[in-house]
Amino acid sequence: MARKKIALIGSGQIGGTLAHLVGLKELGDVVLFDIAEGIPQGKGLDIAESAPVDGFDARYKGAQEYADIAGADVVIVTAGVPRKPGMSRDDLIEINLKVMQAVGEGIRTYAPDAFVICITNPLDAMVWALQKFSGLPANKIVGMAGVLDSARFRHFLADEFGVSVQDVTAFVLGGHGDDMVPLVRYSTVAGIPLPDLVKMGWTTQEKLDAMVERTRKGGGEIVNLLKTGSAFYAPAASAIAMAESYLKDKKRVLPCAAHLTGQYGVDGLFVGVPIVIGENGVERIVEVEFAADEKAMFEKSVASVTGLVDACKKINPELA
Ligand code: APR
Repeated sequence: MARKKIALIGSGQIGGTLAHLVGLKELGDVVLFDIAEGIPQGKGLDIAESAPVDGFDARYKGAQEYADIAGADVVIVTAGVPRKPGMSRDDLIEINLKVMQAVGEGIRTYAPDAFVICITNPLDAMVWALQKFSGLPANKIVGMAGVLDSARFRHFLADEFGVSVQDVTAFVLGGHGDDMVPLVRYSTVAGIPLPDLVKMGWTTQEKLDAMVERTRKGGGEIVNLLKTGSAFYAPAASAIAMAESYLKDKKRVLPCAAHLTGQYGVDGLFVGVPIVIGENGVERIVEVEFAADEKAMFEKSVASVTGLVDACKKINPELA
């Protein structure tokens, strides 16, 4: 059986990390695409030269032409500019929207059957625009945000409780902005919901609230530390989990920005919700009941996404 083909549009910090992880996990052959000449070729060669040490087989190709992504099974998009300190994800909208147009046209022409994962920020608006520009069916394109946001929450929780990250689950919904919605009653340690753990004295409500807030600002925390760019290890790992679920038909239940058609009262937007990813892409959208306060948080987050999408329509009236 031929190896799968994974095209990475954008070969910067996240793109390079994705390329390395694809090799280490033997998910397939990799095409690294970037407008910057030499970067995708150099990173591809460097990773290929690590393969004999780590013992994986994968071909790497650097590319500046979209024709090289032809026939890709999975396309992961990180092309664009990242945040610098003092910037919000939303500040990137104008530049990255133009990038999504070029990327969307490339995918439409050369990889219309791929499963596409968008990482470029502001995520919920960029994945919406990428779907429009590429014309992909809504079940074949998702945004990576929830897996990362819940991984951040899981890390903080595991650290606080002194338990393995493997035994901590977390549930973060809504847009990938500072008003994302970490749902504590659906987040657990070995199945025990967080509110019960507060009652059991494992932590306090104040500490839990602080961890929720730190999760919301998790991306900014890294930007402020790095000063020259934004997070890349955890975002890359998160997108790989999504790609792997598609390529291996694992049917994992993962929080992703998916196209909603009435679920959660949202129509025509991409918003973070739990979905099942399998060989058909988005195979199911999981709809949970919200308590009143959760609903209010979710609606606030959706309002932010609506604002971003409206801003895209203003910048590019073709999208309206
Ligand atoms: N086509 C292809 N690649 C492009 C284009 C384009 N039109 N415009 C920019 N790029 C490339 C850049 O040359 C760069 O190599 O995208 C890459 C982006 O890499 P980094 O600047 O290192 O950014 P990274 O940290 O990987 O983040 C990428 O993901 O999390 C989001 O906010 C983040 O939007 C940003 C994206």
